[in-house]
Amino acid sequence: TTPLIIDTDPGVDDAFALALAAASPEVELLGVTTVFGNVPLADTTANALRLRALLGREDVPVAAGADRPLVHPQPHLSSAHGSDGLSGARGTLPEPTRAADPRDAVTLMRELLEAADRPVTIVPIGPLTNIALLLAAHPRLKAKIGRLVVMGGGVDVGNTTPSAEFNLWSDPEAARRVLVEEDVPTTLVPVDLTHRCAVGAGWLADLARTSATGAALVGLTGEYLATYRRILGLDGIVVHDAVAVAEAIRPGILATTAFAADLDCSFGPNRGALVVDRRREVERPPDLDVALDTDLDGLRSFLFERLSSLGGA
Ligand code: BDR
Ligand code: CA
Repeated sequence: TTPLIIDTDPGVDDAFALALAAASPEVELLGVTTVFGNVPLADTTANALRLRALLGREDVPVAAGADRPLVHPQPHLSSAHGSDGLSGARGTLPEPTRAADPRDAVTLMRELLEAADRPVTIVPIGPLTNIALLLAAHPRLKAKIGRLVVMGGGVDVGNTTPSAEFNLWSDPEAARRVLVEEDVPTTLVPVDLTHRCAVGAGWLADLARTSATGAALVGLTGEYLATYRRILGLDGIVVHDAVAVAEAIRPGILATTAFAADLDCSFGPNRGALVVDRRREVERPPDLDVALDTDLDGLRSFLFERLSSLGGA
């Protein structure tokens, strides 16, 4: 099994991502760290604790991390996920019986990495602040990270500004540190691909019928569905973060292309945008693996098969 840490800002699609990890025997979920993002840190942490209870995984530590970007304030939260980050449905999830871990996110990640006897995969599915802090504070621990699978960025698409995607836009300086300046092997799962992996209303209705846990997950999608109807004209939702977790579980399920890339940290209209170098001759080695394709039906079946196995009373 691959040891896994998920750094998250739940978030409806983050909920699906956590559920997918919990349902997958190929990975051992060592810990969950939270970050501000879709909603403030207190809410993302409360959501992570409820989701952990729903998934029957209160053995997995949840540690809170950064409550704001590294340098500049986050201009705004996401309105896509409703006021509490879970379409206003947090209260439908079970009350946690365990509190958050007393350690902060970076300390938990450090201790898990130090104790690991195999390379750990870290899946950041929110702003990259905690990961930038980890790499900056503990450079020697990079050797313990097998791979980062990051949900974020857009090659030809933005979802928060015309050119920037939410996770990278929320803390561009942190994203630049992680994706450009550091040399940890990284797979980036951008919105270009995640939008194509949307799941339909029928898929969700089928999932809701499989178990109480499936129904509870689908119960979190109300406002998020409305968002995607409005912004993409979908009758369904985009499960961005679950696509990244799928790649961590089944390396190679996404087809990647290596690019030299940069991150725009200026204060113009491209702040937070990923800049991918598609020239044939580039000055820097192409070292960022960007996931741009997959077997879409195969991926949806994989997600369904796993999420429908969750059971629950
Ligand atoms: C990313 O932004 C968040 O709203 C989602 O949870 C996902 O991580 C998509 O741009
Ligand atoms: Ca997220």
